[in-house]
Amino acid sequence: MDIDAWLSDTRALIEHWIEEDMPQTAIDQGSVEDAMRYSVLAGGKRLRPQLVLASAVYLGQPMENFRDAALAVEYLHTYSLIHDDLPAMDNDDWRRGHLTAHKVYGEAMAILAGDALLTEAFAKLAHPDWMDRFNPSRVLLAVRRVALAAGRQGLIEGQVKDLAAEGRQLELEQLEEIHRKKTGALIVACVQLPSVMVGDAQAEARLTEFGKHFGLAFQIVDDILNEIGDAQVMGKATGTDRALGKATYPAILGMEASRALAEHHRALAKAALETGARSGILRSLIDFAVDRQW
Ligand code: IPE
Ligand code: IPE
Ligand code: MG
Ligand code: MG
Repeated sequence: MDIDAWLSDTRALIEHWIEEDMPQTAIDQGSVEDAMRYSVLAGGKRLRPQLVLASAVYLGQPMENFRDAALAVEYLHTYSLIHDDLPAMDNDDWRRGHLTAHKVYGEAMAILAGDALLTEAFAKLAHPDWMDRFNPSRVLLAVRRVALAAGRQGLIEGQVKDLAAEGRQLELEQLEEIHRKKTGALIVACVQLPSVMVGDAQAEARLTEFGKHFGLAFQIVDDILNEIGDAQVMGKATGTDRALGKATYPAILGMEASRALAEHHRALAKAALETGARSGILRSLIDFAVDRQW
């Protein structure tokens, strides 16, 4: 398995699906769709839809069956980035190598584009096409899973706690809770989606364990890269966590112990999956998430 080829092929496939779903020709300049398209197509690793697709492969399912789920998680993630960058939150000017949505379209439009992407994600997940492919009650479970991950006990609570922690010293367990919620919950939902749709409880349990460790490793590396990464390569500013007094792993543990902890979660993520061809992509994805420079 050539993982670099898989990553770039699926990135192109996901971007092709986005283009199909939001064609430029159908969009008026300065409209909310324009702002949505700008942020979604600004770039990005597409790791969350890739996790959906890799989990489909793990189950022996065709990736194309999960097109709408892949789009849904990328839209939802992009909404969370647009809002995260607002002046009222992290106040960032750069994202995915481009000016942030509020810098280009103004704050009101950025908020609305984010709201529209979040709403669109659920319209995608509940698309009638799914009902032909999967049992509708399973689709409903999947929709609920994403709603819980994105909502007040998941991503939103993580963001609330992340902001409340600015300038404060946290215990490690408190920081882990923030990371599990603000980033981890959606990642877990991504890897769960295909198994929830097909109703494979055994695979779902393994994938959930994998996703929990993936989410933590991923956000620890995000913290590390904010401290020592190259802003040009990452397409967003660095050093901002320290400037805002954010609670991060390097701030609490130091760089070396943060790296060691990311390694620990990499190993536990891999241990959650049985070895074999079908888990190859997921294993490579955790390697990519931990070893990445962007
Ligand atoms: C950034 O996520 C925000 C976090 C949750 C850490 P990514 O690093 O996946 O951002 P993109 O999608 O590649 O821009
Ligand atoms: C972003 O976390 C988490 C969400 C958007 C839910 P961060 O604020 O740590 O991520 P970056 O560094 O801005 O990408
Ligand atoms: Mg933030
Ligand atoms: Mg941020």
